[in-house]
Amino acid sequence: MGLNTQPRRCLINVVPYMPGKSIASVQRELGLKNVVKLASNENPLGPSPKAMAVFRRAEKMCHIYPEGASPELREAVARFHRIKADQVLVGNGSDELIRYLCEAFVDNEDEVVVSQYGFIRFKQQALLMGARVIEVPMVDWTHDLETMAKTANPRTKLLFVANPNNPTGTYNTEEEVRTLLKAVPRSTIVVLDEAYCQFAGEWADYPASIPDLVREHENVVVLRTFSKAYGLAGLRVGYAVGDPELLSWLDRIRMPFNVNLPAQQACVEALKDTAFVRKSVAVITAAREPLIVALRELGFSVHDSATNFLFVKCPIPGRELFKKLLKHGLIIRPLDEYGLKEHARISIGSREQNRMLLSALRQVVGVPV
Ligand SMILES: Cc1ncc(COP(=O)(O)O)c(C=O)c1O
Repeated sequence: MGLNTQPRRCLINVVPYMPGKSIASVQRELGLKNVVKLASNENPLGPSPKAMAVFRRAEKMCHIYPEGASPELREAVARFHRIKADQVLVGNGSDELIRYLCEAFVDNEDEVVVSQYGFIRFKQQALLMGARVIEVPMVDWTHDLETMAKTANPRTKLLFVANPNNPTGTYNTEEEVRTLLKAVPRSTIVVLDEAYCQFAGEWADYPASIPDLVREHENVVVLRTFSKAYGLAGLRVGYAVGDPELLSWLDRIRMPFNVNLPAQQACVEALKDTAFVRKSVAVITAAREPLIVALRELGFSVHDSATNFLFVKCPIPGRELFKKLLKHGLIIRPLDEYGLKEHARISIGSREQNRMLLSALRQVVGVPV
């Protein structure tokens, strides 16, 4: 017995996305109680308590469908950014919006430009549409926007830039982004995925994409998420900001009730809880530099980070380190799927979690003499 039906040709070389290993699976497999996950760049402070109070109130409404297009959340996002609600589309995580962008604009054999170590979902999703994906090498682990712009041509439908980037943690400046936007054909949609933008805020040259860049360029779409600084990864909510006509094409393929009702309501509240986001960013950015220094002392080569995670070159192969740390109840992210066998990505945790990480690392890799 076997499957007698061939899948779509473009599916044959697609590998499923590898999410960070879950806490529950490590608890099951290794019989550990206390497991810390530093693999998916979640918020160590948890969710905003105010957003969770709204989430709990919404449980009484769970027998009815949500409003399909998330109108209240779109209005709230529009108020937050001082833009109009028709410039906003809400998705089941920004991941869903990456998918919609590809489904709406990429035909078989169309070109999509990505960066070599850019967030891998861009490439995966474009390949699913049968695209020709062109990967532009990075310079010093940073997107080479100049070469990406030169690579774009009238056949290029989408050009993806994660800024800051996952997994390298680097960012591109406003000047670089503006030069890119001037250089690409107007028919190429430039997607600025800003999942980690809150953590890059301390750099004055980080772009102010909303509202400026989206207002100035109708071919720019900015993606934001509630999964990182807002601490709501489990609710699965992200949004796109861009030209209303462009977004209307995504809206045509949007799943009818793509964002669930408690999530829509909780995210409206989360946007208001600016103190929580400020605190989350402060906790992460205060821990970032000391953690970098400590990791360097342990023999890791660590790149500067504009995010809530660190991109590290390990003294032992990344997967080996991952496996050894699991035994200490710590989950980090090896980067084999990017072809980066010596590297790993480690989310910055709470003070206690970072201490646990460093103590485990001292045992696993030892202190270099
Ligand atoms: C750069 C980037 N974009 C998008 C996402 C997807 O986020 P979500 O679907 O949770 O909004 C992630 C998640 O890690 C990411 O790192």
